[in-house]
Amino acid sequence: MSPKDLSGRTSEAEAAKHAAASAALTYIEAGTVIGVGTGTTASAFIDALAAHTGARPVAVVASSLETAHLLRAVGIEVSPLPPSGRIPLYVDGADEVDRELRMLKGHGGAHTREKVLASAADLFVCIVDDTKPVEALTGYTVPVEYVPMARAFVAREIEKLGGRCAHRPGFVTDNGNELFDVYNLDLAEPGYLEGRLEDIPGVVCCGIFARRAADILIVGRPDGSVETRRAF
Ligand code: 5RP
Repeated sequence: MSPKDLSGRTSEAEAAKHAAASAALTYIEAGTVIGVGTGTTASAFIDALAAHTGARPVAVVASSLETAHLLRAVGIEVSPLPPSGRIPLYVDGADEVDRELRMLKGHGGAHTREKVLASAADLFVCIVDDTKPVEALTGYTVPVEYVPMARAFVAREIEKLGGRCAHRPGFVTDNGNELFDVYNLDLAEPGYLEGRLEDIPGVVCCGIFARRAADILIVGRPDGSVETRRAF
């Protein structure tokens, strides 16, 4: 069944997200603990998982308090990261994804925990609607989570990299930190920039996911079809 918006009409974007989310269910191995991201597409995956009659995880590690809430609301057990520090599968959306499956994430501000789970996962499946794939990462600001007392220092250091920092007003991350949305950064070498940003003392994590790109990308379309791409 296609998801409906409040007016009862089928939303094309939601249908595309729903298609991608449903296709990701095939990567679940029964009885495992998997990770789930944050955002509207991850939320579509939670809905699909709740209705799924095939292989199911025993529990899910949530990338945010919001995701934990959504999981519990549909009766799915939420667990911490296993003692091994590893999970077999992580499923999450993205704001942009390029041909090498590098991503920009964090417009929901959950990218720090998302990057932990992406890095802990043996398989990272990124699920998006067909507006998200791009030739090169350029179209968005880069979210940067930082320790609040470091705000002025971090802003000056990011300026040295050519960025302009806009403090996201009133936003506190699940980790008790603040966020900049950074404009004007040169994303020609995303992995290099990711390292430069995360080397700044006081920066917790940035929204560039290049050093841990996705392994599989599932692109959903409004007609319910999906395209699956692999990292090369
Ligand atoms: C949250 C994220 C999300 O994955 C990203 O913003 C995509 O969200 P949506 O699926 O709602 O478009 O990184 O921090």
